Order: sequence, then C-alpha cells, then structure tokens
Amino acid sequence: YIKKKIPKDQAKIIVCKDNFHGRTITIVGFSTDISHGRYFGNFGPYTPGFVTITYGDAEELENIILELGPENVAGFLFEPMQGEAGVIIPGKGFLKKAREICTKYNVLMIADEIQTGLGRTGKLFACDHENVKPDMYLLGKALGGGVYPVSAVVTTTEIIGPDVIIPGVHGSTFGGNPLGSAVAMKALDLIVGENLSDHSAEMGEYFLAGLRKIAAKKTKIPIIDVRGKGLLIAIELDGKARPYTEGMKDRGILAKETHSTTIRFAPPLVITKEQIDWALKIIEEVFVG
Ligand SMILES: Cc1ncc(COP(=O)(O)O)c(C=O)c1O
Repeated sequence: YIKKKIPKDQAKIIVCKDNFHGRTITIVGFSTDISHGRYFGNFGPYTPGFVTITYGDAEELENIILELGPENVAGFLFEPMQGEAGVIIPGKGFLKKAREICTKYNVLMIADEIQTGLGRTGKLFACDHENVKPDMYLLGKALGGGVYPVSAVVTTTEIIGPDVIIPGVHGSTFGGNPLGSAVAMKALDLIVGENLSDHSAEMGEYFLAGLRKIAAKKTKIPIIDVRGKGLLIAIELDGKARPYTEGMKDRGILAKETHSTTIRFAPPLVITKEQIDWALKIIEEVFVG
C-alpha cells in the first residue's frame, strides 16, 4: 500500500496450486491441500486477497495479473521447486518468464526458498538455476545450520526501507535473537566457504543416478519417477510409500513421504559418496529385497 499505492483493501497476492508455505493462519488460508484437514478446512478465519494459479504456468500468471488489474497485484509468492508437493520442478524457463512478468507489472517476486535455498538444490538459491533474482527471499531451515531455529526475509532497503517499516517497529518475541543470528552467520560462512552448493550438485547427480538404477530393477512396488536437483530428490511410487519409508527408517534412513506416494530425500549437504553408497544399498534392500 505504501510503495505501489494500491487502493485501500484491494491488494492481491498471487500464489500457486499445491503450495506449501507453512502452517500459520494466513498461509493455510490459501493452501489447496484439502486432503490435509489439519492444514486447511479446520481453522480460520482466513486472510482474503490470495489468488491461485497453476504452478509453473507463466501465461496464467500474466493473465491473472491483467484480470485482477496490475495496479492491485502486490506480489507473486512461489517456491522455485515445490518441496512438500513432492519435489515438483517447474518447466524450464518458468522462473525467467515469471521474473519478466513481475518486473513488467511492478509485482513483487517473492521466492520461498525455505526448503530449496542455501545449497540444497545444487546452487546457492534454486532461482539461480535460471539466473533469476527475485525481489524477496524467504529463508529458514539451512539458515540455522540444521541445529537452531532461524528464519529470515531477505530483500533490499529499496523494497522494505524505513518508509515501509520504521526501524524498531516490527518485532516478535524470538525475532532478532542474537544466538540465532550468530548461528545463521556461521552457517552462511560454511555453506559459501566450503562450496556446499557445488558439492550438493555433484552428490545429487550421483544419488539420482543410483536411484535410477534401482528404479530400473524389478521392485516390489513400481517406482514411476525419480527426480530432483542437487540434494532435493524424490522417488514417486505407484502406491502408498509409508511401508517403504518405515522399512528405511528401521535400517537407519529417515526420508519422509510427501503426500502418500512420493518419498523425499534431503540428506545433509556434507554427505559423501561413501555415505550415498551405504544409503543406496539400504534403499535397494527395501525396494528390491
Ligand atoms: C517451503 C516452506 N515454506 C515455509 C515453511 C514454514 O515455515 P514456518 O514453519 O517458519 O512457518 C516450510 C516448512 O516446512 C517450508 O518447507
């Protein structure tokens, strides 16, 4: 309302189908995951003003902006790869086109890189795969080095300067935590200093190749897809994944299913080839026997 001078109460934010941005009340209000009553459906009241498009459809993004009136659209919030939806990778060129559209209509491009950011997909940010710079990153998880709860909204002072949030006005009980900030600084030092993004890309390719070999065998349940970037990887099964995630858990591998038929692997960025070989052996035992 301050920067774009959107008429009072008219602001719209565009989001994507099958998004997962957490479980806070505004966020669950625009979740499309009706299979999870606990995220949607059972809580309210919700925040109005969110409009959903198909994930990865740049043409629909532009059409919706035009339909809503570009002067009313404040932002486009998206995951550069959808994590919880099952490691969904948008078609090549989507991020670039979305960037062009957001720039053309003065719409904030907000990348939720809480799962994908800081080396996870083989680049520092998943948006880097298309050399795209969003206007705002949402970061968490790896920002705390996996040991401390820290999250951040990262943008420029041009976007959120003192004219938008007066210094000292915005806060929360745990916001600005000094230990959290120190852990985040160190985690960033390590991720960048030890080049964990490149390591993630290399180990990810190795892991993917191993999983594809297993998928090509006669497995107890058909593995219908193996996909991923860096160390954010999924295998999709033709049936319920739970017995297999439990089988892996019993042998020392924690990998959660997303929805019911996809298993997501997101191992530590420092994983070695030897550790991947160990994991592949167990995965093969579970799926092939
Ligand atoms: C992509 C993504 N966005 C947002 C969140 C939630 O963040 P928070 O728990 O801080 O609300 C998650 C948590 O799993 C996530 O994976």
